[in-house]
Amino acid sequence: MDDKSKKKPLWGGRFAEGMDPLMVRFGASLPFDRQLYQEDIEVNIAWAHALRGIGIISEDELKDIENGLDRVRDEIESGSFDWDIKFEDVHTAIEARLTEFIGDAARKLHTGRSRNDQVATDFRLFVMKAIDGLSMEIRELQSAIIETARENMDIIMPGYTHLQRAQPVRFSHYIMALFWMLERDLGRLIGCRKRADSMPLGSGALAGSAFPVDREALADELGFSAVSDNSIDAVSDRDFATETAAALSILIAHLSRYAEDFIIWSSAEFGFIELPDAFSTGSSMMPQKKNPDSLELVRGRTGRVFGDLIALLTFQKGLPLTYQKDMQEDKEPLFDAIGALSDCLEIFAGVLDGLKLNPDRMAEMGDEIFATDLADYLTRKGMPFREAHHVVGELVLHAEISGGKLSGLSLETYRKHSGLFEEDLFSLFDAAHSADLRAITGGTAKEAVEKQITAAEELL
Ligand code: ARG
Repeated sequence: MDDKSKKKPLWGGRFAEGMDPLMVRFGASLPFDRQLYQEDIEVNIAWAHALRGIGIISEDELKDIENGLDRVRDEIESGSFDWDIKFEDVHTAIEARLTEFIGDAARKLHTGRSRNDQVATDFRLFVMKAIDGLSMEIRELQSAIIETARENMDIIMPGYTHLQRAQPVRFSHYIMALFWMLERDLGRLIGCRKRADSMPLGSGALAGSAFPVDREALADELGFSAVSDNSIDAVSDRDFATETAAALSILIAHLSRYAEDFIIWSSAEFGFIELPDAFSTGSSMMPQKKNPDSLELVRGRTGRVFGDLIALLTFQKGLPLTYQKDMQEDKEPLFDAIGALSDCLEIFAGVLDGLKLNPDRMAEMGDEIFATDLADYLTRKGMPFREAHHVVGELVLHAEISGGKLSGLSLETYRKHSGLFEEDLFSLFDAAHSADLRAITGGTAKEAVEKQITAAEELL
């Protein structure tokens, strides 16, 4: 390798030779951490104020730094910034460009600070902002859910356990379950944000800065509500990124289960729903196909988000304190998970918005789905539930063997199994009636679901 092709980086004083181009490429985080440019510039400006506060830079130098950083931001946002990989990361690239613009003042900016506390600060700010964005998207999806639930109050469908028909439920009740899952997801993310909201800046490389900057004022300026209590903790831990990825994993697992239900229900075999054209695709070969690609990708992306969490957990396992370059691996997985969830939440709201229900197909739920109600009927007349369960089980078997329907058996046949049966048993074969028997809080009766939706609306 020709030595002249090996460039010396900013920290190159101690080195006799430059880096191998392969190492330059391998070591660079710039291709992905350039996403942090806004936070990095904010942190630089705040740090310049802090240095001014202790007399390290003059008022003129502060002005130069502020104006220079504005120019850097403009360049980045207009797309003309030179994101050359030789700069290694976003912090170095911005500082290098600032130095080209304003010279010596820029060389003072890194006083008392390290990229270790700088990157931890940038990244925490980024995560806090990302959580704010995702929280809004969760709220939007929750609103779409409530709207769908309100519009379809009288649609009853078979509810499933083990993917076997179990008991009739209101579609509204089914879709509102997602509202509450999302409510907990939001709570988890807000918790993550609270713990991310602690400013590492001033921790230096690991031991704390030897320059007595006003950390509280810095935190105020940057929008942190607290400063870190321990510099070693502040530059070492990436728990805020890990727990955010965990919260996002749980969130996408919720979406993935609903995606799966909707995919199955949109098949001809179920025919419960039709997905909007805008979120479906066709087949290149089979003209009749309408494929639920949007939801398949929500389901598919779930694997990637879980992978992001595992990547974060794994690079930290057994890692010595404090900063290690391994920790540069914290960004891509979290960026990926945040991007995935942002898309999936929006896609899901779009699908819900254009979803068509087919209540007639849902209503074809068979008689056996009322078996619990028949057993409850006997129980209300004094028969122990276990016995009632057995009696109705025998009636189900009887209907099956005779090839008839449960509602088609004669009262005489019913009475052979239990003298407690009377003519009114036949009124039990009614899905709305069955649902409305469950008027308990959290149940699927119309009044209970209405109460539930009202409680949900109060949260929005
Ligand atoms: N690009 C690095 C990262 O994302 C910045 C911190 C570098 N610190 C260091 N001691 N090399 O982790």
